[in-house]
Amino acid sequence: MTETAALMPRRREVHPDPYYPDYKTSLTRSPSLPLLSMESTPSEETGPRFGHNMLGALDNNLISNYTQGKALAVGERIRVHGRVLDETGRAVPHTLVEVWQANAGGRYRHIKDTYFAPLDPNFGGCGRTITDDNGYYEFMTIRPGAYPWPNRANDWRPMHIHFSIFGHAFGQRLISQMYFQGDPLIDLCPIAATVRDRSQLDRLVAPLDMQNSRGMDYLAYKFDIVLRGRRQTMFENKPEGM
Ligand SMILES: [Fe+2]
Repeated sequence: MTETAALMPRRREVHPDPYYPDYKTSLTRSPSLPLLSMESTPSEETGPRFGHNMLGALDNNLISNYTQGKALAVGERIRVHGRVLDETGRAVPHTLVEVWQANAGGRYRHIKDTYFAPLDPNFGGCGRTITDDNGYYEFMTIRPGAYPWPNRANDWRPMHIHFSIFGHAFGQRLISQMYFQGDPLIDLCPIAATVRDRSQLDRLVAPLDMQNSRGMDYLAYKFDIVLRGRRQTMFENKPEGM
């Protein structure tokens, strides 16, 4: 039997400060009073279950899912893959992983994105998949372009892919971003700079993974994701893997 258990408390001292003046929208988005940490309750320790039968065959292939295979997106073909793990290193199987990203020119297919890089008629920019029994996931996509954003005089977002991972409990859900190894814009980005510790930021940077690339086809990037939580497998009433 598999079930969720109490979540490990969030370590606020290692998370980005919600108020970060170089990231201008944080001024209005951040709370003005100190946050309180509370014990998790069943509403945080449970969550929706997603099944493979809700997914379409191309949902994890952003190169072709927007046209349903009729035409391919423009850009550098890449494979992004990895495992979803919890804090104890255990795989998080059968959990929904969703991604969204700009196209190769750095433009989102979104009504509020008015950057003059053109839309790609063959690229939507969204995908989803469910981890397998070992917590493994993969996407085929194109490498997103960097894009400028209205913050300070000349700020650019590094190339990045947005991730949402549901986990097995609402309190585990993680929204994050994946960056690409070697992108010089990472060190100039005020959003990336909100991550306090370099080793934590490095964990958001996916290394090039030549072993899992394919010649004359695509490069691969490896991105493992760690959710908080304590998901234990009960075996004869003995907690395993704690
Ligand atoms: Fe973005």
